[in-house]
Amino acid sequence: MTIEIDILNGDASWPITEPLHQAVWGPHVVADKPWAHVKWDNAHLRVLLETPEDGLVCHVGVYFRTVTWNGQKVHAGGIGGVCTREDRRGRGYATMAIDAAVHTMRANEAVRFALLFCEPHNFAFYESRSWLPFKGEVYCEQPEGRIRFDYMAPYVFNIVRAPTLGTIDLCGLPW
Ligand SMILES: CC(C)(COP(=O)(O)OP(=O)(O)OC[C@H]1O[C@@H](n2cnc3c(N)ncnc32)[C@H](O)[C@@H]1OP(=O)(O)O)[C@@H](O)C(=O)NCCC(=O)NCCS
Repeated sequence: MTIEIDILNGDASWPITEPLHQAVWGPHVVADKPWAHVKWDNAHLRVLLETPEDGLVCHVGVYFRTVTWNGQKVHAGGIGGVCTREDRRGRGYATMAIDAAVHTMRANEAVRFALLFCEPHNFAFYESRSWLPFKGEVYCEQPEGRIRFDYMAPYVFNIVRAPTLGTIDLCGLPW
């Protein structure tokens, strides 16, 4: 089985990604979530996994942002929009795509740690892949202003050194 992994510009690759994204997070799925109204940032890069038989099977959005941790500026990476086609899950695709995303963030020498936000049903998935719960507070921007972001749980990944306590300000939209 051949799996092609591409890492593409986020905006340029949105049209390829949109159908998968809609299938996983379409309005019918998102409507009753507490975070349905949240305005998210767009991915800067996208990891796309494709097979000759199925086309796009898995997506991971990659973000780069200068955030603050306890008031100090620090360059962070992020992943978001992690999704695998429903009928192709459990084959290691997301694991592969997340590895490629981490590799990409490591290649950016300024990045100290990576950050993602997830719901409780994915805690075990990320914890078994070396992501650590961030136990402090997270703030971000929304159209109405700066808010405390507690709709989903933050997880961090050590690139140089990941904080697990304190206050992170995303200094922009969440991802
Ligand atoms: C979460 C999600 C992205 C995982 O995608 P996936 O491609 O199924 O992930 P993987 O196959 O890499 O890993 C899933 C499980 O399959 C197992 N697995 C990995 N390779 C496997 C293989 N070849 N055969 C069978 N099982 C395998 C893994 O061990 C893992 O189990 P674990 O969680 O107990 O460790 C997918 O379920 C999804 O799209 N969910 C909906 C959207 C979502 O919640 N996204 C996360 C947003 S933060």
